[in-house]
Amino acid sequence: SASGSDWCYTENSPSKWKDISGSFCGDKRQSPLNIVTSHVVTDSKLNNFTFVNFSSEHAIKSIVNTGHTDNEVEVSGGGLNGTYSTIQFHFHWGDTEHHPGSEHTIDDHRYPMEMHIVSLKKGLAVEQAIEKSDGIAVLGFFINVCPTTNMSEAWSTLTSYLTNVTGMICPFKIMNISINGLIGDVDLTKFYRYMGSLTTPMCNEAVAWTVFQEPINIHKDLVSWTGLTRVKGV
Ligand SMILES: *[C@@H]1O[C@H](CO)[C@@H](O)[C@H](O)[C@H]1NC(C)=O
Ligand SMILES: *[C@@H]1O[C@H](CO)[C@@H](O)[C@H](O)[C@H]1NC(C)=O
Ligand SMILES: *[C@@H]1O[C@H](CO)[C@@H](O)[C@H](O)[C@H]1NC(C)=O
Ligand SMILES: *[C@@H]1O[C@H](CO)[C@@H](O)[C@H](O)[C@H]1NC(C)=O
Ligand SMILES: *[C@@H]1O[C@H](CO)[C@@H](O)[C@H](O)[C@H]1NC(C)=O
Repeated sequence: SASGSDWCYTENSPSKWKDISGSFCGDKRQSPLNIVTSHVVTDSKLNNFTFVNFSSEHAIKSIVNTGHTDNEVEVSGGGLNGTYSTIQFHFHWGDTEHHPGSEHTIDDHRYPMEMHIVSLKKGLAVEQAIEKSDGIAVLGFFINVCPTTNMSEAWSTLTSYLTNVTGMICPFKIMNISINGLIGDVDLTKFYRYMGSLTTPMCNEAVAWTVFQEPINIHKDLVSWTGLTRVKGV
């Protein structure tokens, strides 16, 4: 599911988003950004994360965001102020013409894709969370496409659901994929933190961002760029 899919990156380009009535897109705490590693400072308050039910194979239920919080998956620690309930995950990716790939960049390096795991401060509804400076926590993972990496079972399963999306009735159930299965062996103790915003209108400045340093590596045979472009927006 691509949450930003209603926001076109060509005709209604990001440079125009600040002109939308009620939008925060021209403000000062905007995401995404380029992480300049020579300007990053170490913060000793960024302790280890605690992930609840990230290994559950029942937590990811559907390929589209139904907006429904089931409170089965939670994240806390990692310097976050409180416990956050995960509501959805989605991807941003590139194609050769319109989309750049990952949203964040590191020292101007852009990865082919970025996965976002979106959580709301526990007890808040979306409308309340977007009003708070730390109402939303997004975990961002870069995704690299490699010819040599192992074919991960979670990614093989997910992509087989994606290629089956066309013609299926949405939202359709997905089974037997855990968040940890998708994250794989990324070192979860190495991450960047900054206070930013949603990356599509209204660009509310409500997000505690975590961008993990190590990318998730997926095998190139799992990626068909035309296929991904076609299923975007489902
Ligand atoms: C944080 O996690 C790392 C890696 O799992 C571990 O080596 C370290 O001991 C943990 N630190 C604390 C304070 O639990
Ligand atoms: C984690 O998953 C288990 C099994 O589905 C469930 O009983 C438990 O309530 C979940 N934890 C949270 C914090 O929701
Ligand atoms: C932490 O969260 C609580 C509850 O949402 C809030 O009242 C408090 O201001 C937050 N603290 C910081 C430093 O943001
Ligand atoms: C996708 O469709 C193929 C061909 O019909 C089928 O073999 C495969 O099991 C389906 N995958 C999933 C995850 O439903
Ligand atoms: C999911 O896992 C269960 C238990 O391992 C298995 O019975 C079921 O067939 C699996 N479903 C799919 C779609 O792979």
